[in-house]
Amino acid sequence: MRLSAIVFCLFVLANVAQGSPCARLKSQPEAWVNAKVDAFVSAARAAYQSDNALPAYEKVLDGITASIRQCKLAEDDTFRSRYGVFVEYMQAAALDRHPNHELGFVVPDEQYFAETRQYVEIPEFLMDQNFLQAVSRYETLGRAKSFLRQLNSRRETSEKLIFFSYTSRHLGTPDNDDSYRRLLIVVPGNAEKGVPDKWVQFGVTDPAARVRVRNVSVVSALPGADRTSNIYFKDSFRTYRRGHPITIAGRWELGEHDDNCVQCHKSGILPIFPVAGSVDPAEQEALLAVNQRFLTYGSPRFGSYLDERKFGPGLSSASLEVREQRFGKSFTESSVAKAMTCDACHNHERLGALNWPVDRVVISSFVTGGQMPLGHQLKVSERRELYNKLIQEYFATDKANPGILKSWLLSKLQ
Ligand code: HEC
Ligand code: HEC
Repeated sequence: MRLSAIVFCLFVLANVAQGSPCARLKSQPEAWVNAKVDAFVSAARAAYQSDNALPAYEKVLDGITASIRQCKLAEDDTFRSRYGVFVEYMQAAALDRHPNHELGFVVPDEQYFAETRQYVEIPEFLMDQNFLQAVSRYETLGRAKSFLRQLNSRRETSEKLIFFSYTSRHLGTPDNDDSYRRLLIVVPGNAEKGVPDKWVQFGVTDPAARVRVRNVSVVSALPGADRTSNIYFKDSFRTYRRGHPITIAGRWELGEHDDNCVQCHKSGILPIFPVAGSVDPAEQEALLAVNQRFLTYGSPRFGSYLDERKFGPGLSSASLEVREQRFGKSFTESSVAKAMTCDACHNHERLGALNWPVDRVVISSFVTGGQMPLGHQLKVSERRELYNKLIQEYFATDKANPGILKSWLLSKLQ
């Protein structure tokens, strides 16, 4: 009896050593990584195209990071020397899968907000009740702007607020998917004194809508060395109660969850590309001024909270040779091919690479909406082709000719 028990145990142990998932994985790492990369890139492509595919993508990602954890792949020097890029990418992409890391940063949300409070607090002078009342509704927006003009009359030229209202062509507010009206106020900072520029954006309730929009967002840019700026984020919610002052508190602090801002804000601050005609002619100058100001910030960095280089190169970064292989020699002569140059400006040293994870809304809008690439005149059909080719080239999983994301995930650490 006892002997048979021991034999049984030895049998089980031998089996575990040989056949455990980790042992199998480590004995054939290449096959495992290749299979996972293909599954990941395909799921990412589907999730890029449709939110419905997001759960499936998250399942693939969670599976990969569970293996990395259970098999201690990040601590395995042999594995890491060959697949370090893969490991680091997956760990970075999975940050917002951890509870309390909804922003997708390496520290918990609570710590992020505690450490960055001074950068993302809404300035006191925008907490005035008269202003908050006026800015909450479209009908009284004029009064809110008069208030801002009055503030400006007392401010130095370099400190004057730049503001205008517009309609977003991209997204609703976190508390109301159907609310597209905004008042944006850029509050100039002072880089030498460590005070960032704050871009404070109020969601404005639609005409005659009953329920008022709550969201107020801040993105701040603190210019640093080497033409880079550190970018910080925070959403807040207003609370309206009859007979009480309007209060403002952090969205996350109120238990209303948060978003992975960087996924859309690849360039840190985003330029404003509003619905055509939604900016008053008298405010066009302010729109131009804020977009000009955005260009002075240089390359976006996210402090020590995210190393976005781990996500690799972005759209259009394939070599000409690889592109020719994929789309044929005749294509590379076309005006669409000549417009596949996003990477010249959207890279780590300049505006930030357009790499996965990313939101399709911004990319498709800038390309098919005619804003990008700068300086190219393309027909509507060509823009559509450009967009489709960029996506195909980025997410391709062909074995013989992998796309940009797959190539990055299979590359070695430098
Ligand atoms: C789904 C994509 C998406 C996400 C996620 C997102 N934003 Fe934005 N955000 C945009 C777009 C696009 C704009 C540009 C204005 C527009 O077109 O609506 C913008 C503009 C802003 C602005 C105005 C200043 C600027 O950069 O233009 C602020 C402030 C802002 N976002 C804050 C945030 C914060 C804080 C978060 C995270 C809690 C966040 N956003 C998450 C898409 C997004
Ligand atoms: C010559 C430089 C240049 C090229 C090439 C270029 N862009 Fe841009 N892009 C910019 C600048 C500058 C902005 C800021 C807005 C503006 O000035 O209109 C911008 C803004 C954007 C934005 C919004 C900000 C962000 O980072 O999300 C997107 C999306 C974008 N470009 C996508 C593309 C795509 C896709 C291509 C290639 C088809 C492309 N761009 C090619 C310079 C460039």
